[in-house]
Amino acid sequence: MILSEEEILMRLKELNMIIPVKYYDVTASTNAAVKSLRSERGENLLVAAGRQTAGRGRNGRSFQSEFGGAYFSFTFSPNAENTTAQLYGSIMLSALAVRSVMEEKGIDCSIKWPNDVLCGGKKLCGILSEVVYDRDYPDYMVIGMGINVNNPLDGLGDIAVSMKEIAGKEFDVAEIIAAVVRRFFEMLIDKDFSVMDEYKKYCATLGKNVKVSRPDGEFYGFAEDLDSRGLLVVRTSDGKRQSVSCGDVSIREVLS
Ligand code: BTN
Repeated sequence: MILSEEEILMRLKELNMIIPVKYYDVTASTNAAVKSLRSERGENLLVAAGRQTAGRGRNGRSFQSEFGGAYFSFTFSPNAENTTAQLYGSIMLSALAVRSVMEEKGIDCSIKWPNDVLCGGKKLCGILSEVVYDRDYPDYMVIGMGINVNNPLDGLGDIAVSMKEIAGKEFDVAEIIAAVVRRFFEMLIDKDFSVMDEYKKYCATLGKNVKVSRPDGEFYGFAEDLDSRGLLVVRTSDGKRQSVSCGDVSIREVLS
């Protein structure tokens, strides 16, 4: 199936979802493209690409993005009343949306805090969320997702996996993109949906010994809980608890 704007729009329409879509065969990064188009057009939209030449990951890493994967970014504007909760919640929500669609496709996933989606301990999807400020206030949020669908994972076989490898068949990339975006917005507006409770059910980092690396040094501890904002609460051997944010740390599980 060739990925195109029409194909994505058709899949979204099947799910009763309307959002402007822009598709590029090749672009540097869909996160960069969606921000530039949003500032030009002043409306929320979805940008997808067949391949990225400078795909970006968290903590300044790059993200390998060969043809066959789902590389897409979308924007949304938080409600005025609960901006902070929505911003933190949307980081967790984005991983939950992917996990839920994978379950529908028969693929069982867990979430590595804050928002890597794993299958059998290998990364199936990476998510880069960004907040764009207008002066001092959050203006809109960007959720950028890279899902390994049918793409080759040259050199990454030990740490990453694709849907094709897991299921032994190819998937329709436009259908996956549409389903994930739809699920994200469905969960976002569902007042009865507890992001925190749902996230804790699937977060593989909780209950593990972890190594926290910060620019100013590293420490080991036990990933005990999430605080009300979704930060990871790590207990160190002296009993102290520290909330760590994904912005300044990288978390690695350690063997106990
Ligand atoms: C990570 O694993 O560190 C996050 C990876 C996020 C990759 C996606 S692919 C679509 C969007 N565009 C980017 O440049 N990055 C995100």
